[in-house]
Amino acid sequence: MKDFISLHDCSREEIDALLKLAIKLKDENKKGICHHHLKGKTLGMIFTKSSTRTRVSFEVGMTQLGGYPLFLSSADIQLGRGETIYDTAKVLERYLDGIMIRTFSHQDVLDLAQHADIPVINALTDLLHPCQVLADLQTIYEHKGKLEGLKLAYVGDGNNMTNSLMYGCAKMGLDCAVATPKGYAPDESVVELAKADFQKSGAKLIITNDPVEAVKDADVIYTDTWVSMGMESEKAERIKLFADYQVDSKLASNAKSDYLFMHCLPAYRGYEVSEDVIDGPNSIIFDEAENRLHAQKAVMVTLMGDK
Ligand code: CP
Ligand code: NVA
Repeated sequence: MKDFISLHDCSREEIDALLKLAIKLKDENKKGICHHHLKGKTLGMIFTKSSTRTRVSFEVGMTQLGGYPLFLSSADIQLGRGETIYDTAKVLERYLDGIMIRTFSHQDVLDLAQHADIPVINALTDLLHPCQVLADLQTIYEHKGKLEGLKLAYVGDGNNMTNSLMYGCAKMGLDCAVATPKGYAPDESVVELAKADFQKSGAKLIITNDPVEAVKDADVIYTDTWVSMGMESEKAERIKLFADYQVDSKLASNAKSDYLFMHCLPAYRGYEVSEDVIDGPNSIIFDEAENRLHAQKAVMVTLMGDK
């Protein structure tokens, strides 16, 4: 594994190994055991979109591993003024040991990884958010003691989270049911690629417009904002269109009684999720947020650690 760009590119064994390492690093961290696996190494962190969790968890994670995180806002580097991805890759590989990038175009991340001889980590594009889903798989495993055989229901906008969740469920053998309004289904090419992995793992994929059908007997209910970064101009229209897709206690009552509520955050209470659900006893949103730290440390150690 040179890069971490899509869970589809990882084998089930690789994801398993990342999850095991994440859990080990988390345990060591809680016990105060120092693990400077990346001593003297530097991670460049390119952001062309906002972030709270991703920025802080990568910076803290790199620091805990004995390395140095270098925040590179696109507003401050020449990439933001039109320098090419190619030149940026060829220059940054001379200074850095790894690059983490959050940006709009998924192709830009693929190009960066192709041209940079150092590991590239996808920290969210318009298409995918694999770091979040790796942390989510860790969180589900910690709460349920298994992944295979569970059912995850995603309700809302078919976006980068939906795409990565489908890839993650397909690889790890969770049934995945996605309910979106018409016209907001997840990316077709992602669905096609995920289908092959669902077949391999024996898990089921359901794509529907009916949230009740999706949530029925689910172990996990997942939702995300209706207005992803870059879609702000569609906000009013989306709020109207998505009104029947709020995860509230009535919808959640179709799930198993011990269902987990998950959300990558940031959340907008009263829109994609009601307050009683997101702040209720089934919600594990802050465990998910914490696990970003541990899961990404596992990714960095795997990609950037001495072999
Ligand atoms: N979930 C997530 O990626 O959060 P941020 O946008 O705050 O990084
Ligand atoms: N779908 C959201 C995820 C934020 C972490 C977005 O892209 O804005």
